[in-house]
Amino acid sequence: MSETAVDFDGQSLITGSLVRSSRLSPPSDDEPSRFEIASSQLFPILSAAERAFMDGLEPNGIVERLAARLHTLRRSSSQALWDAVVELAQRHSIRRFLMQDPLTHWSATKPRGYSGDAGLLDIYYKHPSMDHLLADCTPLGRAIYDYTSEVPACEAGRERCRILARTVDEAVERTGEGAQIFAVAAGHLREAEICGSLPAGRIARWVALDQDSVSVEVMAGAHPGSVVQPLNGSVLGLLRRSYDLGTFDLVYASGLYDYLQDKTAVKLLQRLVEFLKPGGTLLFANFSDEIVSDGYMETFMDWPLILRSEADMWRIVNASVDRNLFEASVWYGANRNIVYATLRRHG
Ligand SMILES: C[S@@+](CC[C@H](N)C(=O)[O-])C[C@H]1O[C@@H](n2cnc3c(N)ncnc32)[C@H](O)[C@@H]1O
Repeated sequence: MSETAVDFDGQSLITGSLVRSSRLSPPSDDEPSRFEIASSQLFPILSAAERAFMDGLEPNGIVERLAARLHTLRRSSSQALWDAVVELAQRHSIRRFLMQDPLTHWSATKPRGYSGDAGLLDIYYKHPSMDHLLADCTPLGRAIYDYTSEVPACEAGRERCRILARTVDEAVERTGEGAQIFAVAAGHLREAEICGSLPAGRIARWVALDQDSVSVEVMAGAHPGSVVQPLNGSVLGLLRRSYDLGTFDLVYASGLYDYLQDKTAVKLLQRLVEFLKPGGTLLFANFSDEIVSDGYMETFMDWPLILRSEADMWRIVNASVDRNLFEASVWYGANRNIVYATLRRHG
């Protein structure tokens, strides 16, 4: 699992350069040789891909080979070497091809100022609100998107949205009418659009907290006058007990723990379980260390994540709660690109 020294506590806007500038190891004085080694390993990979684009070869295959080679390079590199690889890749002329892909472009340019915003997720969720980006992009951009949006990590992200909707419906089944739900780092709360219990009127309130005011506006616009209660708030605000929210039958956080180092992850989990009613359930998700698009994501999408294993998830759970008070399980989605932890407070 990669760790960073920056504590993404809810106020910091997350960018790749912030993550790289915050690595635990101090910068060494071997800068030239580090960049020389990085370029000797990276440039043959990028040159081959760039030539293939210029020769008009099939884009899907080009990006698939590129991503596979970046994954291998990432796994075989020290952190310092990989940081150099990322910097060099982001200045390479192959970007003129890759940036035609709306997914890569959004991720790298960060219209909301930070990585992994809900707009980015909408692109790979294939949400209709992002159809215009696909209509407006070049044929090459569309072909690259057909690859990048179908990698196992994106498929797992779409499955995660369905899992959240199912988890909400199951909580409602368990609770009966009037269930109370709390989504932390809710983004655009797209799971609300596919869960059955919301339109069935079986939810009493669904608090949806996010630090991004644009996302809060999107949620408010999508669910006017409903039980969905968008809340502009942060992890830091939760840790400081700034919000008086009561208790819930289900609390969940998706797309958040991937940015939290263990210390904050544990503190947040300890805080979140306080929101659970007896018998209530908590779920949190994390991209797993089995993903293979990590190299492409960190270089051309400038989207670094803290990837976790099953053991990493257990470590967070066991450091956070008294296991006599909670049932816990850790499990993977279908393609093992996302790992989930579920806790149930004994009734
Ligand atoms: C990858 S999106 C996930 C959105 C949604 N939960 C989903 O799974 O589709 C991450 C969200 O976390 C929010 N976020 C990141 N750090 C946060 C923090 N410290 N406090 C509150 N929200 C945060 C971002 O604003 C963004 O909407």
